[in-house]
Amino acid sequence: MKILVINGPNLNLLGLREPDVYGGQNYDSLVRDIGGYARGIGAEVTFVQSNHEGAIIDAIHAAAGGAQGIVINPGALTHYSYALRDAIKAVNIPAVEVHISNVHAREEFRHTSVIAPVCVGQICGLGAFGYLAALRFLTEYKVNG
Ligand code: DQA
Repeated sequence: MKILVINGPNLNLLGLREPDVYGGQNYDSLVRDIGGYARGIGAEVTFVQSNHEGAIIDAIHAAAGGAQGIVINPGALTHYSYALRDAIKAVNIPAVEVHISNVHAREEFRHTSVIAPVCVGQICGLGAFGYLAALRFLTEYKVNG
């Protein structure tokens, strides 16, 4: 099973950016951990990180017909990008939204996700574990139809 793991704006700065909120692990280390976990459960993962909305939308379009699942941390695009929402809806690939922090315990503007309604579900506040949980879920979700 092929799963696309997308990280949006500023997630390349993991480890440096607000470590009290996002933890000390950097992006490369996160990718290694997700890749290792994916191998263990027989999933094939590809990674995209971009600070550009259009590049993320292009990656989602390119996944159509290729990936069976999407794990996406859209960063701040979560809260306002209707274009990203429409892209996920358009490709019809089951997607899980992941946030490292508990967005509901933070500023008011982070409580809204325009992406979550087009995803199977949302995971937040579990740190990097959220990506692994999302992956595991998508492998099961596919099996169960
Ligand atoms: C985030 C939460 C967003 O509100 C924020 O803009 C991010 C990271 C998270 O992983 O907790 O960039 O998606």
